[in-house]
Amino acid sequence: MSQIESVLVENRVFPPSEEVVKRATISGMAAYEALCKEAETDYTGYWGRLAKEHVVWKQPFTSVLDESNAPFYKWFADGKLNVSYNCLDKNVEAGLGDKVAIIFEADGGAVSKVTYKELLSRVAKFANALKAKGIKKGDRVIIYLPMSIEGIVAMQACARIGAIHSVVFGGFSAKSLEERILDAGAVAVITADEQTRGGKNIPLKPAVDEALTLVGANSPVKTVIVAKRTGGACNMVAGRDVWWTDAEAGQSDVCEPEWVEAEHPLFLLYTSGSTGKPKGVQHSSGGYLLHAALTMKWTFDIKPDDVFWCTADIGWVTGHTYITYGPLACGATEIVFEGVPTFPDAGRFWKMIQDHKVSIFYTAPTAIRSLIKAGGDLPKKYDLTSLRLLGSVGEPINPEAWMWYYNEIGGGRCPIVDTFWQTETGGHMITPLPGVTPLVPGSCTLPFPGIQAAIVDETGHELEWGKGGFLVVKKPWPSMIRTIWGDPERFKKSYYPEDLGGRLYLAGDGAVRNAKTGNFTITGRIDDVLNVSGHRMGTMEIESALVANPLVAEAAVVGRPDDLTGEAICAFVVLKGSRPSGEDAKRVIKELQDWVGKEIGPIAKPKDIRFGENLPKTRSGKIMRRLLRSLAKGEEVTQDVSTLENPAILEQLKQAGA
Ligand code: PRX
Repeated sequence: MSQIESVLVENRVFPPSEEVVKRATISGMAAYEALCKEAETDYTGYWGRLAKEHVVWKQPFTSVLDESNAPFYKWFADGKLNVSYNCLDKNVEAGLGDKVAIIFEADGGAVSKVTYKELLSRVAKFANALKAKGIKKGDRVIIYLPMSIEGIVAMQACARIGAIHSVVFGGFSAKSLEERILDAGAVAVITADEQTRGGKNIPLKPAVDEALTLVGANSPVKTVIVAKRTGGACNMVAGRDVWWTDAEAGQSDVCEPEWVEAEHPLFLLYTSGSTGKPKGVQHSSGGYLLHAALTMKWTFDIKPDDVFWCTADIGWVTGHTYITYGPLACGATEIVFEGVPTFPDAGRFWKMIQDHKVSIFYTAPTAIRSLIKAGGDLPKKYDLTSLRLLGSVGEPINPEAWMWYYNEIGGGRCPIVDTFWQTETGGHMITPLPGVTPLVPGSCTLPFPGIQAAIVDETGHELEWGKGGFLVVKKPWPSMIRTIWGDPERFKKSYYPEDLGGRLYLAGDGAVRNAKTGNFTITGRIDDVLNVSGHRMGTMEIESALVANPLVAEAAVVGRPDDLTGEAICAFVVLKGSRPSGEDAKRVIKELQDWVGKEIGPIAKPKDIRFGENLPKTRSGKIMRRLLRSLAKGEEVTQDVSTLENPAILEQLKQAGA
């Protein structure tokens, strides 16, 4: 049975225990329904009330939602605030100065701690260093840093001075970095000499050098700030590059925040779409912060004595909302981890939960699956009784992985919040609330209060429960994407398509609601986007990279199910020369995999590459991807192939790796 089918007939239900309900901020289904009702009756009143309660404003807003230029919605537009003030100064002023904000554990195991007071001075000092380099409100700053306190300091410092950060995951290549630098028009890059993962030092700065060489003479980047992580060899370009500590030298550790309009962009984050070029998803300051804080309080039920750990990297949206902004906005203590889950062994996460007494743990299904495989019994070696809540994000969680997580990690007492959301949504959209929702393995259950999620057909008509269709959001919400940087038309076309009437936010996922409970289950992307280990990859992006190789004439990329990574990348390639076989084929496969690794990053390397003299095409020349999907899965092709121009090609492509 496919995973989707098994989720649909899933009949295990885990209602919240009395103890969890009693402790929860949103306690009981009646409380949840009252919030939904409030939002339904007075939508702007609801969000306006929450924005006043959960965000500190320098200048209060009078307008909650401005729809005059829909779908370019504005929230709290005449209000002013500073996000870094809300994450740091606010907590210090409230007497939390000596509370630990971050417990940092390095790859090798060294632990350091930073209090709110210390974090505030570090952010202020670095903010002053940025200002001294001429970086000001509205400037774009690329951050290419490992998981580190510096990464959070750099992001918060940008927020403090109103600069717009764009974090690029350290696993992306120089070429990807170059594209993002150019698209964002960045004036500065903040990086480190090297990063350390799984006991190995991996250079970072050389990728920045290479990216800036590719950018060329008219580079907008005037400054590169380099943090010293390992002390490994590092080329410094005079006049452009400066060590982090030198940039900070002599700077004051007090920095008045720049009070920005609520709509001022806090950050851009590039993500894959269904066409070749990654999209710079633009987020706001006020609305984004509200949802980051609110979801911490309601979904994660964060309390003053919690130790929160989100295992994502700051290079992804999960790391933005649930490492850099959400936990700090709530004055929480959080873990920041530099390493990987399997080093020195697959018990690392569990040991860290024990050592730091983690109470809320948020990770991705791909990590859970790999840890089951690498050491399913290891959790038993550790004391995990500090845990009270578990979370999952990034991809559908298979019911069996859910059960393992629930029993082996949560000891059968911790609710699992399976949070559905996206880079574009800023924070959780559909998720259980621990003190409210009966949990069903594999289902993200019900919308967050105020989020008007629905399932529609291809004309935008809402479907009855039980019928699968497109997942949409019917009303704008505060933390939504504002636009695609530099490409408002693409924003409109991608997220508010005219086919659906132009007023529904199209998530790009298929979904179905349980006919009885209304619980949502995500059935996967409806576009050409793959989800590999919880990371989004556009098939077109990988195809463009392959075709850029001098050996390649044509390429088509599809996904196939993979036990560990959820989906695996499978590429069908036509070479300019003859179709290789045997050792020759192996060599070219390796060469192309490495090529994609260099063009985009190691996460984009195709797992399978197959060669054909051609690709299956219709008479009008369109590649028949559905056939390729069947071939990639190793299925018999049962689809109608009557429109196929060259049926013989299927036999050739069936042969894996040849
Ligand atoms: O397909 C959905 C899947 O991940 C996509 C969003 O990816 P990204 O923007 O990289 O953000 C990931 C972290 C928020 C979605 O369109 N997805 C995310 N969470 C879930 C999920 N699929 C099923 N269940 C989830 N909980």
